[in-house]
Amino acid sequence: MTTALVTGASEGIGLEFCKILASRGYDLILVARRQEILEQIAKDLTTAHAINCHVISSDLARPQAAQQLFQATLDRGLQVDFLINNAGLLQNGFFTELDLTTQENMISVNIMALTSLSHLYANAMAKQNGGHILNVASLAAWLPIPNQNVYAATKAYVLSFTQALHDELNAAQSGVKVCALCPGYTATKMMDNPAQGKKLTVPGSMLQSPQDVALQGIEACLKGKPTVVPGLSNRMTTWISHLFSKMALAKTAGRLYRKNLN
Ligand SMILES: NC(=O)c1ccc[n+]([C@@H]2O[C@H](COP(=O)([O-])OP(=O)(O)OC[C@H]3O[C@@H](n4cnc5c(N)ncnc54)[C@H](OP(=O)(O)O)[C@@H]3O)[C@@H](O)[C@H]2O)c1
Repeated sequence: MTTALVTGASEGIGLEFCKILASRGYDLILVARRQEILEQIAKDLTTAHAINCHVISSDLARPQAAQQLFQATLDRGLQVDFLINNAGLLQNGFFTELDLTTQENMISVNIMALTSLSHLYANAMAKQNGGHILNVASLAAWLPIPNQNVYAATKAYVLSFTQALHDELNAAQSGVKVCALCPGYTATKMMDNPAQGKKLTVPGSMLQSPQDVALQGIEACLKGKPTVVPGLSNRMTTWISHLFSKMALAKTAGRLYRKNLN
């Protein structure tokens, strides 16, 4: 049996990763903060697909959360073949006006936990028969975004870190494949969550489905690609971003976000 660990499995893109992998016969380790929701998802997926589901409740913003999660999988005798670092937080608004602790938590989840889990499981996978790691970045990784300031910077880290790690692991012939998934606007709670500060209004036509995003991420990772940007218009945005200076991109994004954040 092949086992996948998905962080942020309780809803959104993370839940879609779980549904796709369950339909392909993967056993699952579901990780998020809300244990009851994870238990219900585990029950549903186990019944529908005759797989094994394990639930580990974890707040990945807490210090040592990644190490404790890794140890919890060892204690249960679980070997992880596919790690999906999907859990992520977003804050919309003016950096100096947003709560500092919330910004720090975002860095802890989006960067620290993802980095630590990549380190722990890449080493474990290299000792096994290899494995796959999918790190969820964002289209926001490609440009500085005023009013999503820290979020965009955390995703730029995820993209850069993952692309470099992809090369390292390949050069070392470790058998471990790592891929960065860069979704554009996707129809999940993240697009309309009061806990994230202001709301960004985006035309419905620009929203991708979380199912489609998750599927493209899994496919690209299994094929050994370093990066995947779902959707032609999103890929065009990344190509265009190479034509301008980062500051020109920041000014354009700043105008757009000031207009559409309410
Ligand atoms: N939606 C978009 O437009 C979009 C675009 C580009 C990239 N992304 C990225 O895609 C990933 C998934 O986003 P989404 O849209 O699916 O978001 P979402 O619907 O808001 O779901 C976020 C998930 O992360 C979990 N999570 C949040 N804080 C956590 C913490 N401290 N510890 C553990 N788990 C935590 C949540 O579960 P609990 O609340 O149960 O902990 C939930 O399962 C994120 O990395 C996001 O940055 C999203």
